[in-house]
Amino acid sequence: MSISGIKGMNDVLPDAVGVWQFLERSAREVFGTYGFAEIRTPVLEKTELFCRSIGETTDIVEKEMYTFADKSGNSMTLRPEGTAPVMRSIIQNRLAAQDPVAKLFYIGPMFRYERPQKGRYRQFYQIGVEAIGVEDPKIDAQILMMLHHFFNRIGINAVSLEINSLGCPACRPDYRRQLIQYLEQRLEPLCSECQRRYQTNPLRVLDCKVESCRAATTDAPAVVEHLCGECDQHFSQVRHYLDLLKVPYTVNVRMVRGLDYYVRTTFELVTDQLGSQNAVAAGGRYDGLIESLGGPALPGIGFAIGLERLVLMLDQDVVSTAAPELFIAALGDAAVEQAFILMSQLQVQGVRADMDFQGKSLKAQMRRADKLGAVHTLIIGDDELRSGQAQLKKMADGSQTSVRLDALLDLLT
Ligand code: HAM
Repeated sequence: MSISGIKGMNDVLPDAVGVWQFLERSAREVFGTYGFAEIRTPVLEKTELFCRSIGETTDIVEKEMYTFADKSGNSMTLRPEGTAPVMRSIIQNRLAAQDPVAKLFYIGPMFRYERPQKGRYRQFYQIGVEAIGVEDPKIDAQILMMLHHFFNRIGINAVSLEINSLGCPACRPDYRRQLIQYLEQRLEPLCSECQRRYQTNPLRVLDCKVESCRAATTDAPAVVEHLCGECDQHFSQVRHYLDLLKVPYTVNVRMVRGLDYYVRTTFELVTDQLGSQNAVAAGGRYDGLIESLGGPALPGIGFAIGLERLVLMLDQDVVSTAAPELFIAALGDAAVEQAFILMSQLQVQGVRADMDFQGKSLKAQMRRADKLGAVHTLIIGDDELRSGQAQLKKMADGSQTSVRLDALLDLLT
């Protein structure tokens, strides 16, 4: 019996890979313009890193991590997200000692043991961004501007930006107490999950998707109304700069995010095109995270985009695949050998060239050129070898021109 892949972990097949490359290329291009440099960290980290940063009572840490003991008995986890590993790397490599301001991005697979469905997988790719060392609300606005710019660049408009502020360690505990008191009066209609977590993680009740939970909390206190002076000022400046940059957004006071490290600005880019998996990108501020992991007291803000969700939303036609510019159809041993040399010379010069390797008839070779979407086809037989001339066929309209074989390279490059 053949062996299948793991549930929720997908292959990206050659036909689809062009879209992925387009998205990755666009991210590198756009983020590079804003001064962000790429960082690559391992997919495996010590489990403790995620417990301490994402939070013990979050869904990710409680039930979604791929955690196992390695051969020495140490607990390892396949990264469920990219922020904590990047912070670990910044601390370990003392990047902040060289420059306390770091702008980084990463592209890679993340792993969460979630129930797979459209847009939700167990291995999924994120394009993530982290800006470290700046508390100024201008950087919050710049990060959101960059996200907006990236989506424009890739041609996805059916998204809207929702922002919120979650306060800070000075103002959130008091708000949290008030929220718990409020929820205590309304426990009965809450789903069993919210009844279980309302004391440990009361904010999550606010963005629970269950209708009875939403109905029971319509007039729940909003964190933005309980911000301390500094957080309030920070949030209003973020909105001011977003207005200046003409980045459209709405304030969603119920958006709370599922990771514990967030403070102040949080945001999600949502769409109505993907059913319940409606967030295509999400992020926020995490001042205090680096310090809590044993590093310097540096603020930070970032986001991650779910690549599979972008691929689902994109018109696949926007990206062309690697169709050959030239397919060489050859007839007869000598011509096949000459075609092989010619093809290799063209490839070395950067021309996407291809030919038949299965000894097919001329007709079958032409069919293959067509199937591959070749721009041109060159036909060579014994006569062409003798004369050094061959017919170059433009596949789009079937027109043919006679070309000299030794001038082909100049013609195509
Ligand atoms: P997150 O909201 O957990 O945040 O994930 C960010 C994005 O990754 C989501 O909006 C979604 O597009 C995608 N995503 C998450 N889980 C899955 C899944 N199972 N299948 C497919 N796509 C998924 C974070 O991960 C934070 N580290 C973001 C961040 C960076 N905050 C600050 N800096």
